[in-house]
Amino acid sequence: MAVTYDASRVTVVDHPLVQHKLSILRDTATGTKQFRELVSELAMFEGYEAMRDLPLEDVDVPTPVGVAHAKRIAGRKLAIVPILRAGLGMVDGLTRLVPSARVGHIGMYRDETTHEPHEYYCKLPHDIEQRTCLLVDPMLATGGSATMAIDYLRRQGARDVRLLSIVAAPEGVAAVCEADPDVPVFVCAIDEGLNENAYIVPGLGDAGDRIFGTL
Ligand code: PRP
Ligand code: URA
Repeated sequence: MAVTYDASRVTVVDHPLVQHKLSILRDTATGTKQFRELVSELAMFEGYEAMRDLPLEDVDVPTPVGVAHAKRIAGRKLAIVPILRAGLGMVDGLTRLVPSARVGHIGMYRDETTHEPHEYYCKLPHDIEQRTCLLVDPMLATGGSATMAIDYLRRQGARDVRLLSIVAAPEGVAAVCEADPDVPVFVCAIDEGLNENAYIVPGLGDAGDRIFGTL
């Protein structure tokens, strides 16, 4: 049966540059250095979309020839929360966009047989309930890891949670949409589905192993 979800919850970042870079990322021939750089760049593109609604305030800025009636971000606090390990690859791109953002960590691994996520480490900024949380993980496969991480963030008081993944399976998107009614999902592609090992098809393989060179 076809997997269904509310498409209005999902933004597919389909800019030509994103799609071009994603094709290189997927390629088996792409090595660790370039893979890492591409994950970081794609995280930046997704970051632009995920933060599109940040509120602005007016500010007057002196220029060498006058005063510009300009805008700046109106004090919204951000937390970037990678799901370890692969999510770490997206942090650098996002902190380049928002250098003052705090970074939390949620450590999880998938059991190779059951594909169930297991939590092994969590550390968040103390004021997480006041922050917009960008939960980041390049792969959204069954959605088990992301839904467990979102549930953890909610239990810690996070109100504004946004999920940024690079490649998703429809099953993962559906799982997140069903588990939490308020988390918008940003991805660069939604692929065909999952194989018998719960890997995304065609996907890009094991993101953590490709980022950290542990293949
Ligand atoms: C991968 C990936 C996600 C998870 C996705 O991590 O980075 O966290 O699997 O799968 P799911 O949607 O079915 O939960 P993995 O458990 O392989 O750990 P790693 O990042 O340490 O490689
Ligand atoms: N984790 C990965 O790294 N890749 C997949 O395709 C699924 C889970």
